[in-house]
Amino acid sequence: MLDQSTNRPELPPEIARRRTFAIISHPDAGKTTLTEKFLLYGGAIQMAGQVRAKGESRRTRSDYMKMELERGISVSASAMSFDFGNYRFNLVDTPGHSDFSEDTYRTLTAVDAAVMVIDGAKGIESQTQKLFEVCRLRDLPILTFCNKMDRESRDTFEIIDEIQENLAIDVTPASWPIGVGRDFIGCYDLLRDRLELMDRADRNKVAESISINGLDDPKLAEHIPADLLEKLREDVEMVRELMPPMDAKALLEGTLTPIWFGSAINSFGVKELMDGIANYGPEPQPQPATPRPMMPEETKVAGFVFKVQANMDAKHRDRVAFVRLASGHFKRGMKLTHVRSKKVMSISNPVLFLAADRELAEEAWAGDIIGIPNHGQLRIGDTLTEGEALRVTGIPSFAPELLQTVRAGDPMKAKHLEKALMQFAEEGAAKVFKPMIGSGFIVGVVGALQFEVLASRIEQEYNLPVRFEASQFTSARWVAGPKEAVDKFVNENKGHMATDNDGDSVYLTRLQWDIDRVVRDYPDVKLTATKEMM
Ligand code: G4P
Repeated sequence: MLDQSTNRPELPPEIARRRTFAIISHPDAGKTTLTEKFLLYGGAIQMAGQVRAKGESRRTRSDYMKMELERGISVSASAMSFDFGNYRFNLVDTPGHSDFSEDTYRTLTAVDAAVMVIDGAKGIESQTQKLFEVCRLRDLPILTFCNKMDRESRDTFEIIDEIQENLAIDVTPASWPIGVGRDFIGCYDLLRDRLELMDRADRNKVAESISINGLDDPKLAEHIPADLLEKLREDVEMVRELMPPMDAKALLEGTLTPIWFGSAINSFGVKELMDGIANYGPEPQPQPATPRPMMPEETKVAGFVFKVQANMDAKHRDRVAFVRLASGHFKRGMKLTHVRSKKVMSISNPVLFLAADRELAEEAWAGDIIGIPNHGQLRIGDTLTEGEALRVTGIPSFAPELLQTVRAGDPMKAKHLEKALMQFAEEGAAKVFKPMIGSGFIVGVVGALQFEVLASRIEQEYNLPVRFEASQFTSARWVAGPKEAVDKFVNENKGHMATDNDGDSVYLTRLQWDIDRVVRDYPDVKLTATKEMM
């Protein structure tokens, strides 16, 4: 049967109730606080303050290193499942630091929606804009939460205008703030005609919610001072005249974002936002794949790896592949085909990630994120199915923007270093290139902080002090084209050639001029800055 609003087949209830999303924000806007309140209402934690991992985005470097040592914490925060009413929420953490944008991009391939948190006093900030653009590449539905309304904030119309203009997306207010800063008393719920009053005395209390019969209801005057009530009526009149109404289809297509106003720290507006996620979702969506997309209504299980985390437990050297299930009902012990190698894997120890823990996943449905411990067979971009040769698409690998050579402090440990580097490359934490001429490795990353994190991890996890040094190259491009042309090109440019950890040819250079020359001299060879992870 087709769902009227989306024109897509109705999903089995267990799948239709799943909401898989990420939170995107500029550092300090309140992502960690909001996550914590989500978990609180989801019953996943008992009191605020239990999410030990602070917003990754605002950690200092030393915080980050420390956190890297406490791997368990950062990992349990990578994906979190909890129930909210009849819904199952899967919240996938996006690394907030701009140095980790590639990881963020891939994480966003695993979700069906994003919650964009902005600070009411600051509006759209640089990182919000960047992350939004990543969402836009995939037309991901966005729900917006304007936080910190308990403090002095910008004019509401101005905030909405800024979102519309900077992000080129329509905005529909789902709630409307009453009063500003110290006079902020709560919101009018425009979707459900309710008055939500904030309790400043108890930060963890869910707001008092009063049903209202439209804006002329005399009950409003009992709760709102006359001047604020007059302004509310005027504002809402304007909103209803000028702004688009809520439209589930436009939200799904990524052209309209509903905005809720609130204060995460005061638990205010959070429940309304969660209701919004539950009601407007969306439910698990089709995932692009070749030769055909993976559809959530299919009964056969299919899923793909969007993240690999190595050495979660330094003693066991295990790796966990984070798999987004795209279809079907997965059961523990199932045998799935690893499409890249065509081998069948028995998935006997899958894990589900809860707020502070992980537990064995006896079952999971399309939309869920499961962790599969493995010894390196599973890589980012891999697809698992019940046999069909489907391959997920749209999980790119970006050319690194910074290159450095790396050497082991002890030259006798070069083999160990190679092993460590390959592991991090497979995890997606860095690109590792082996030059055709000479020894050693060149490591490429997107942001400089990653070199330090890598050095620290290699030392901690492999007991191997390393040195990163400037490389003679600054850019890397993958080489594509007919085999003959590529072979000729590789032969004639050995000093610039390397292979990546998949064995693919990479051209290294420090000059844009060189790249232009290749384009001119080798018309059949293509140099690309991204590679599909397949
Ligand atoms: P992030 O993960 O997006 O980086 O932000 P985080 O939640 O850590 O919040 C950043 C700061 O903003 C924190 O203050 C937090 O307490 C505060 N905050 C979050 N929500 C609200 C809100 O609704 N109203 C107000 N007034 N503040 C809010 P901090 O002083 O930097 O840290 P902490 O000492 O409070 O932990």
